[in-house]
Amino acid sequence: MITLTKESLKDWSELRKMLPEEILSQYEVQDDKVVLTYEQLKKLSEKLDLSISTILGKSEPSDLNNGIKVSRASEGYKRTSIKNGKEYYTYNHLVTTNVYPTLMPLRVELHVNDNQSVVLNGGHDSTEIVYVTKGTVKMHWENDGHVYDVDLYVGDSAYIHPGISHSFIAAGEDKAELIAINW
Ligand SMILES: [Fe+2]
Repeated sequence: MITLTKESLKDWSELRKMLPEEILSQYEVQDDKVVLTYEQLKKLSEKLDLSISTILGKSEPSDLNNGIKVSRASEGYKRTSIKNGKEYYTYNHLVTTNVYPTLMPLRVELHVNDNQSVVLNGGHDSTEIVYVTKGTVKMHWENDGHVYDVDLYVGDSAYIHPGISHSFIAAGEDKAELIAINW
């Protein structure tokens, strides 16, 4: 049996834009610890696209090939998040590497385009930069109890400080998409 902290598993799943509850519900949880068999650890490692060594916090050989790693468009993990019963984002993983496991680049498709459906995410621990690749993106964020918004156009980028609650929706009828890099 392998024991991990519940917190570390939550952090990894949040970074990978997966649902911590869904991941945790598959294992035996004792207080702040998660107990897994080796088979379960192997499956978890595949699901999170993190090596077993990374999950266990051990050093390991790099997954780079002559200093680089390529991730093909057809091979990445993909998940559509649902907020208030509506499709909100589709997260498409870009390349990840064990030499920088907390680096999480994503292509994000935005499905919502009305202000009434905005759900702020409560903020996350990672730092984030976004870059608009399609359509017009309306970004909402909250600071000191005030909610702000700004329209971002193709080629615009924004920095989001850790802990700042935010959301992205399409500003019009056209499809909107952005690249989000979290680390
Ligand atoms: Fe974010």
